[in-house]
Amino acid sequence: MFVFEDSQLQEVIQRFQQIVGEEHVLTQPEDIVDYGADHTEQLHFSPVIVVFPSTTDEVSGLMKICDAHHIPVTPRGAGTGLAGGALPVMGGVVMAFKRMNRILHIDEENLQVTTQPGVITQVLQETLIEKKLFYPPDPSSRGSCYIGGNVATNSGGPKAVKYGVVRDYVLNLEVVLANGDVIWTGANVLKNSTGYALTQLMIGSEGTLGIVTQIVLKVIPLPAHNLLMLAPFNNLEKAGAAVSAIFRSGIVPSVLELVEINALRIVCAYIDNSSIPLREDTEAHLLIEVDGNNMDQLMKEMESIATLLESFDCGEVYFADDEQQKEVLWKLRRRVAEAVKADGYTIEEDTVVPRAQLPALIRSMKALAQEEKVEVVCYGHAGDGNLHIRLKIPGETNSYNNPNVTPLLMKLFERVQQLGGTISGEHGIGLIQKPYLPIVLSDASRMLLKEIKKVFDPKHILNPGKIIDA
Ligand code: LAC
Ligand code: ZN
Repeated sequence: MFVFEDSQLQEVIQRFQQIVGEEHVLTQPEDIVDYGADHTEQLHFSPVIVVFPSTTDEVSGLMKICDAHHIPVTPRGAGTGLAGGALPVMGGVVMAFKRMNRILHIDEENLQVTTQPGVITQVLQETLIEKKLFYPPDPSSRGSCYIGGNVATNSGGPKAVKYGVVRDYVLNLEVVLANGDVIWTGANVLKNSTGYALTQLMIGSEGTLGIVTQIVLKVIPLPAHNLLMLAPFNNLEKAGAAVSAIFRSGIVPSVLELVEINALRIVCAYIDNSSIPLREDTEAHLLIEVDGNNMDQLMKEMESIATLLESFDCGEVYFADDEQQKEVLWKLRRRVAEAVKADGYTIEEDTVVPRAQLPALIRSMKALAQEEKVEVVCYGHAGDGNLHIRLKIPGETNSYNNPNVTPLLMKLFERVQQLGGTISGEHGIGLIQKPYLPIVLSDASRMLLKEIKKVFDPKHILNPGKIIDA
C-alpha cells in the first residue's frame, strides 16, 4: 500500500489541479468511494486521489508527476470489469477516463475509426451503424463499458465466434508510458510486420504497461440481415456437444451462446420476463444467430442448424420473428451475469477450452461442484469454448484472498488446463485470477511477463498488483 507524506500529497494535488482543473481532482472520501470498486465480486480498495484527464497531454503531465513521486496509478474505464483490473489495490491514484469520450474520426474510405478510450462501446457501435459500419466485439456490459476497458482486457463477447475479439480489430494505439512519454504502437494499416507487435502486447495488458489514450480500430461493412433462435436441450452436455457439430457442418454462426436453465430462470425472474417458454425438463439452451447479406442463404443455414440439433435431442426451437423478439432474447442473455450475481452466485470464472472439449468441461465442472457441495451455474460463449462458471457458496462473496474458495478454484482450473484450456477467455487476470496463473503459464513464461513489465514500468507504478507480481 502506497502512503503519501502530507506535504507530498498537497503538492501532488496542487499540480494535478494545475493540469486538469480543480473540479477534475477528487480527494474527499464520499466523492471517491465509487472508484474503489468495480463489478468484481464484492471488493473495495480506496484510492487517495481520483483524477479525470481530458487530453493525452494531460495524461502525460499526470504520469510525469506520478513517475517522479513513485505513485501507483490505476487506470479506470467504466468499472465494469470482472477480474478486478480497475481496483486500486495499492491506493494512490485512480485515473478515470470518462472525459475522454469522443469518437475522433470515422475514416469511411479505409474502414477505420479513431476513438478516445472513454467512449461507451454501444455508443461507438451505434454511431458506426448509422454509416452501415460494424465493430463486432461487445461485452454484455456494452451499454456502459468503455472501449478503453475493452482494449485493456481484450474483450470478446457473443460475436467473437465469427468476428473475433478486440485484438483482431485494433490497428494502432496511442499510449502514454509510465514516465509520461507518448508513443504510437504501430500504424493505421491492415498488415504490419514492423518489429515486435507492441499494439498486440498492449491489448489485454490491463493498464500494467501503459495508458491507452487513442485507439484506431478496423471496422467492417454491416451485414444486412440476421436470424436468431433459441434451442432447448434436456441434456446440458448434449447442448455442449452440438456446438462443435455446427461448425463441423460448415456453418459459422455469428452467435453461439449457451445458457444453463437455472441461469435463464433467474434472469427471467430478474427482469420480469415470462415471454420465453421454459419447459421443466430443459437443462440448457443454445442461442444461435446467423448473419449476412443473403436472406435466403440465412434461412437455409438456420434450417440446417435446426435439423442438425435434432440429433442432439434438441426440443422445440423458438425462432425470434421480429426485432422486438430478438431484443427480448438479447436482453435475457446480456443480463445473465448481473442476475445470477444478485441471486448469490457471486464468484464468476471465465474458463475457455478447445471448442470440442466443452462437454468434458461441463461434466468435470458439475462433478467438482458435487464433490465440493457448491452450487454452480454456467453460461457463455459456447462457440468459442468460453464458459462462464458462476459459484454460489453459502457465506462467501469473494474468491480473492479467501482460503475457503481458492482451493476449489485451483481444482477447477487444473481440470481446465488438463482439457487444453486456460483460465480467462475475455475478462483478464486483473487481481483475482493472479493466484492461478502458474497453472497455465510455466515459470519461464511468467518470468518473461515479469521482465516485460519491468521494461515498460521500471518503478512499478502502472496498475501495480495486477496480472503478475513484481
Ligand atoms: C457475459 C460476461 C459476463 O458473457 O462476460 O455475460
Ligand atoms: Zn462473456
